[in-house]
Amino acid sequence: MPDRIIEPFRIKVVEPIRMTGPAERLRALEAAGYNVFKLPAADVLIDLLTDSGTGAMSSEQWAAVMRGDESYAGSQSWYRFEAAVKGIFGFKHVIPTHQGRAAERILFSTVCRPGHVVPSNGHFDTTRANIEITGAEARDLPAPQGLVASEPHPFKGNMDVEALRALIDELGPERIPLCMLTVTNNTGGGQPVSMANIRQVSQVCREAGIPLYIDACRFAENAYFIKLREEGYQDTPVREIAREMFSYADGCTMSAKKDGLANIGGFLATNDDALAEQEETLLILTEGFPTYGGMAGRDLDAIAVGLEEVLHEDYLQYRIEVSRYLGEHLTRIGIPIMQPPGGHAVYIDAAAFLPHVPPLQLPGQSLVAELYLAGGIRAVEVGTVMFGHPDPETGEEVPARMELVRLAIPRRVYTKSQIDYVIDTAEEVWARRERIGGFRIVEQKPVLRHFAARFEPLYPLGQEVP
Ligand code: F0G
Repeated sequence: MPDRIIEPFRIKVVEPIRMTGPAERLRALEAAGYNVFKLPAADVLIDLLTDSGTGAMSSEQWAAVMRGDESYAGSQSWYRFEAAVKGIFGFKHVIPTHQGRAAERILFSTVCRPGHVVPSNGHFDTTRANIEITGAEARDLPAPQGLVASEPHPFKGNMDVEALRALIDELGPERIPLCMLTVTNNTGGGQPVSMANIRQVSQVCREAGIPLYIDACRFAENAYFIKLREEGYQDTPVREIAREMFSYADGCTMSAKKDGLANIGGFLATNDDALAEQEETLLILTEGFPTYGGMAGRDLDAIAVGLEEVLHEDYLQYRIEVSRYLGEHLTRIGIPIMQPPGGHAVYIDAAAFLPHVPPLQLPGQSLVAELYLAGGIRAVEVGTVMFGHPDPETGEEVPARMELVRLAIPRRVYTKSQIDYVIDTAEEVWARRERIGGFRIVEQKPVLRHFAARFEPLYPLGQEVP
């Protein structure tokens, strides 16, 4: 049997996508204030904006949708969902929410106060915003190897355990209501966290009496990387690896839009009885009754099946192969990417792609605009647009630690020839990189500015467009 890794599914339903011309794309970009979050999806050919909620459900999941029980209280869908979640994650209480950030909001508004600090290997943007809105501080403590984009390392998502110890010594555990670990670390390049690191972080937290929560969005991809890369796990089923990961934690937040293989949904889980009670009160106020939270019965059922399917190893092998293939081909062209490719995405190092564009001229934003213009590909900036902020003392803009552009791969959606098209488009942009300049922000909001900001190019963007 050939050892080529292929899509482990066949296609039953197709959804047409529309090819546009460059002049049309330039007009669409201008109308969107050069912010791809504002583009109509119908004007996008290959949508790599996110892997969140954009996956294709399986025939078994669609069958489960039909089984959905829409009873307000105690629906059969709820019991199936709860059993699937407990079977994998092992926590005592499961609180269903409409997506990941609702779980974050309920968790942080229950435990965080002004003066608190919440450390993480890398907070995602909504996680950070949900912490900061309580008056607490979100602090990233990535391990040093995670910050050098070009240097491969098997576990670039790890947390800096020494920095965590130092933070606890400095502030005292009273000011740290919980510690988070994001698996895989999305903001750090979709990179995995090793079991050894989870174990060490857990030990430091337990010694200090600080609860550890895992942001579990991409737990199956992380578990599979552990199987591939960490000594001693080659023969362990990923399901058992996942169980072990969560055994070191006191709870988790989950966006089922990623490794739940669903289009919507999420949950919060905890072993803490008193906390669960407070969280359920908040859940009823803002999400829904505790046996459905923010979801319909059919969503609960789709997730219950998705959580099982995501642990199939032929699926995970294919999933990781797609980003590896994309990453390897971009590297072959010479395009600098975060090495090695992440689980759900390939991150282009925009600072190295456009070294002549300084961080405050938003090189990632330029690259995102150029990829859309060249081929109708929608990517997302994960750099100074997303994470830059004014210095609280001087008011001057502080750039992000890295200027990345994420090509996020929806689950089970695009074929290999479509990935090849992405590679060809990126190659075209690479060939004319010296003629690409920067951008500036002309309009922005104080929180999560990347969603709504409007930009202006500082160079004649699209001058080669007929
Ligand atoms: N945590 C991580 C690590 C995430 O990547 C996301 C979402 C969330 C939490 C929030 O979950 O969207 O269900 O509310 N990430 C998406 C992305 C939006 O594009 O990476 P949500």
